[in-house]
Amino acid sequence: MQFSQEQNAVWEALYARQLPRIRRHACRGYLEGFNFLGLPGDRVPSLDEVNRRLVPSTGWRAVRTHVRYSDAAPWYDAFARKRFLITDYMRTWDELDFTPEPDMFHDIFGHLPFMVLPAYARLQEMFAPAFLRSDACQREIIKRLAWFSTEFGLILEDGDLKVFGAGLISSSGEMDHVMAGGVPLRPFTVENVIGYEKAIYSFNEVLFVFESIEALEGELRRYFDTL
Ligand SMILES: [Fe+2]
Repeated sequence: MQFSQEQNAVWEALYARQLPRIRRHACRGYLEGFNFLGLPGDRVPSLDEVNRRLVPSTGWRAVRTHVRYSDAAPWYDAFARKRFLITDYMRTWDELDFTPEPDMFHDIFGHLPFMVLPAYARLQEMFAPAFLRSDACQREIIKRLAWFSTEFGLILEDGDLKVFGAGLISSSGEMDHVMAGGVPLRPFTVENVIGYEKAIYSFNEVLFVFESIEALEGELRRYFDTL
């Protein structure tokens, strides 16, 4: 896929504004994956380029989708085959701070550094089988658990609050808001999370914190094992 000059320029601007933020606020795992992946700062990377690092690391592969906002079912079908869908849409200049639709900056910059990490890939691999064997009600709960962990979760590192979710990592507006203390935080438990809907068109009103990736995995497993 060829990218326009404008798409590359938006990527460059987003990358430049997020770099100091992720250095300060992102969790260690993300930064480790980010350094390993070596995303370019001045243009949108091709998927061949990112797959050269991603595929040998965890077996996951980034695959382009032309669907703007994928429905959960086809998305989890791809997930079950270790295919991570990357949209072909890039946000516009007036959406630099916040975009309700996941765009290729979110998908690549927010998610892919995590996907090169075996511990994180294992966590992601729990979702699709649970989703695919669930009924509609349970699927809604799984979507919320994913939303408040891999998209908007926060993690404690040596007592410090760090950003874990890809939705925060790729959104300077919401990341600043959260890290300035603008959002109430609660412990990530299934019971706490399921009462909250995903906030797609606004910032989240409450977010959830876990002690470690293993603690998150344990909490998810506690629910997924009942399905
Ligand atoms: Fe996402």
